[in-house]
Amino acid sequence: MEERNLCGNKGNMKEFFVLLQRREIGGDIQLKKEREFTMRIYKAETYEEMSKKAANMIFAQMILKPDCVLGLATGSSPVGIYDRLVEWYQTGDLDFSQVTTVNLDEYRGLAPDNDQSYRYFMNSHLFDRVNIDKSRTFVPDGLAENAEEECKRYDALIQSMGGVDLQLLGIGHNGHIGFNEPGDVFEKGTHCVALQKSTIEANKRFFASAEEVPEYAYTMGIGTIMQAKKILLIVSGKEKASIVKEAFLGPVTPAVPASILQMHRDVTLVGDKDALSEIEG
Ligand code: F6R
Repeated sequence: MEERNLCGNKGNMKEFFVLLQRREIGGDIQLKKEREFTMRIYKAETYEEMSKKAANMIFAQMILKPDCVLGLATGSSPVGIYDRLVEWYQTGDLDFSQVTTVNLDEYRGLAPDNDQSYRYFMNSHLFDRVNIDKSRTFVPDGLAENAEEECKRYDALIQSMGGVDLQLLGIGHNGHIGFNEPGDVFEKGTHCVALQKSTIEANKRFFASAEEVPEYAYTMGIGTIMQAKKILLIVSGKEKASIVKEAFLGPVTPAVPASILQMHRDVTLVGDKDALSEIEG
């Protein structure tokens, strides 16, 4: 489970909890044993229904705060959400003109016009289809020469926006969020990480072969994700059912990065019935 960090911003678990308790990276957060489990869970019948429910929450955020900062994700899970948002833009119900977005992650070494880059994904699934000001859409720079500098720049950028109002997340088969891979510490800030074999395997479906999947990626850290005012996690498919159970009913541990979300004060989990099949009461 080796994880190389090019940014040197690892924090240990104790330090992380101290930060949580000082409210530097959380809000009203208490250790799991001392708090009620308050995560909202919405079960949808299908991927389409999951997408609609989750898109409705983003819609609500944009109506309540038209100049909100949305934290966005890529992958298969959010595609249906972005399609819905585009539909609502086309019918005149949604206006992106004041919205700022900040993405979770980007492959290191991929140019924005590479069709496997996350910048390209965001442009083609959302940004090019709505009236967002592209200069207010942010994704880590896959071509940055200096990884450490790029991580610092991205963290400073997020801070300068006043943090994220609503963070959309998917979850990897190994429990990763963003590209925060399982390890023995929670990473606080943006860092450049060596992707695990299982992640490369899962993502090779988008590339010609596993060899073409970049080995490194930039990702927002767990601390930054936990600072988001609201978190919306979406999950679909039977093959994610066991990791959903581990993440939300198991112990909080960096071995399952998504488990830290149990400590966030405002998390909504929207999943289809297959993905939620192991956590039904
Ligand atoms: C992508 C990201 C990843 C994905 C996760 C699930 O920006 O942050 O953590 O959310 O790998 O991917 P899908 O949705 O393809 O199963």
